[in-house]
Amino acid sequence: MRIDIVSIFPEYLAALDLSLVGKARVAGLLDLRVHDLRDWTTDRHRTVDDTPFGGGAGMVMRPDVWGQALDELTATGPAHLVVPTPSGTTFTQRTAEALATEEQLVFACGRYEGIDARVAEHYRAAGHRVSELSIGDYVLNGGEVASLVMVEAVARLLPGVIGNPESLVEESHGAAGLLEYPVYTKPPVWSDLEVPEVLLSGHHAKISRWRRDRALEKTSARRPDLIEALDPGHLDKHDRAF
Ligand code: ADE
Repeated sequence: MRIDIVSIFPEYLAALDLSLVGKARVAGLLDLRVHDLRDWTTDRHRTVDDTPFGGGAGMVMRPDVWGQALDELTATGPAHLVVPTPSGTTFTQRTAEALATEEQLVFACGRYEGIDARVAEHYRAAGHRVSELSIGDYVLNGGEVASLVMVEAVARLLPGVIGNPESLVEESHGAAGLLEYPVYTKPPVWSDLEVPEVLLSGHHAKISRWRRDRALEKTSARRPDLIEALDPGHLDKHDRAF
């Protein structure tokens, strides 16, 4: 997969050199390029913004500068343009799964009051997919941190990025639609707290049942909305309410 990220603060994206995403890049599983939007400006001050038509506070990012950048980055064929914005639809694990199937993602990181609305409209009309996405109901200073979140969530789903793909199966927001059960490791007693006995029993069926019960219990307490949304076909006959 190819991912381009355009920002006026490309240094924000340096974290993508690290850890799993960094390794995926070195291994050639992910072709990730970070660009400075100001490289597409043509004036002496490298201007990317201007005052909003209609008045109001703050500045808006100019569509002509974004147009130069995005035309160049999408020249090889249709790309999926992602515009992080608190006014977008909510980015979820399902969104990450869908984006992970694309050949090219282009993240357009807005700052100030956002990007002129004609940019999304233009690239949609030109045949690109455009997703305006929010990572949650709070406001960040720009799209960079949101892009970091989304790129990491997508990259770990790419084939070969996670050593043991089984670890993707049982995690929170995975196929079961539940939050993940609590996990434990050595030592078996720490700070007077014992690891639940069943996990030391070696009894796989009992361990699976215990884990599912804890996942149901945790999800009921923390995210009752996820319990409501469970597909009845995914419930098993021993499941009970918590
Ligand atoms: N930019 C500013 N706030 C954001 C959010 N919550 N999600 C995505 N992009 C943003």
